Amino acid sequence: MGAVGGSIGLARKVVGTGVRVAAAPLAVVPLPSLSRIGGGKQDYFDTLRTLSQASTTGPHFEAFIDVPWDQPGFGLDKNDERWQLPGIDPLAHTDWYQSLSKERQIEVARQRMTAMTKTGSQFEQLLLLGGTQFLMGLQNENPEFRYFMHELTEECHHIQMFQEFTNRSAPEITGAPAWLLKTIPVIALLGSVWPTLFFQIILAGEEPIDHVQKNALRAGGSHPLLDRIMAIHAAEEARHIGFAHAWLEHHTPEMGAVNRFAVGLLTPLIMRIAIQIIMVPSRADAELMGIPEDVMRDTFSRRNEAFRRMISDVSADVRAGCEDAGMLTARTRWAWRKWGVDGRPSRFRGEPVSSAA
Ligand SMILES: [Fe+2]
Ligand SMILES: [Fe+2]
Repeated sequence: MGAVGGSIGLARKVVGTGVRVAAAPLAVVPLPSLSRIGGGKQDYFDTLRTLSQASTTGPHFEAFIDVPWDQPGFGLDKNDERWQLPGIDPLAHTDWYQSLSKERQIEVARQRMTAMTKTGSQFEQLLLLGGTQFLMGLQNENPEFRYFMHELTEECHHIQMFQEFTNRSAPEITGAPAWLLKTIPVIALLGSVWPTLFFQIILAGEEPIDHVQKNALRAGGSHPLLDRIMAIHAAEEARHIGFAHAWLEHHTPEMGAVNRFAVGLLTPLIMRIAIQIIMVPSRADAELMGIPEDVMRDTFSRRNEAFRRMISDVSADVRAGCEDAGMLTARTRWAWRKWGVDGRPSRFRGEPVSSAA
């Protein structure tokens, strides 16, 4: 939960005084008695209560109210020189990108930033589908329902925000590969049939998006409209990531040995796939941007130390959670190495990482 305040501070810094904060409701609806929900640690339910109240009275945003789409200075002109790749993008440091004409650099930056935004919206649509599957299985009075429904409501605004940005900045990009989009309804079923794995999938998508957005803002940002969108997203995403970690901490002690081993083995693979989808342009988008195959191969490869460090850093909080839950053990450590998401677990959630330095 420590990262929440930092992200909101970051949002305020970028969004400025225009942040619209919801008025406090006349009365915050009390959470029900926990007696029918079974055992559990009180502090977990206190966290849910805090998160639910923060979603109601804390900073929250709407795509078509809080983003200055048509305000002067925020227009998405295709030739705007403010389009530039942030320094945290491995593509920004390639000889290929550096040698492009100014016009082409602007075009690549616009399409690359839009591709990541579009992929973020596609991931969040998966989260909506799987999230409603998950909620179907909850008993009445379980406070997870109220909080997670707040989260899905926020994701609806994020999807609207990301899609509107895509429509206006680079409608020619497609985001995630078509084969993956076709599997989304099947993956979403995990929300009800294998929620522990589904929550790892949530983190595998949310952690890389959050990492890219926060570090891009810290590095000075890009186009001001995208900066505003990223700041809004980072502020709300802090709650979402906090909940996914808390849910796993609360529920993993109930897991059987086989389930624990299987999730421990699959999580690094899921992290690697999600990082690939979110951080690396798809084949179709790479072709659109005109990125040569050898540049793609060399840049987004573990042979590139900067990329290697980035994917390890992005996975640090998930590694820490898996270690605490007994899912990152001598029997599963090889899988983290194999997929390149190994490294030191973070000492606390949101610990600043080396690749962002
Ligand atoms: Fe989101
Ligand atoms: Fe989220």
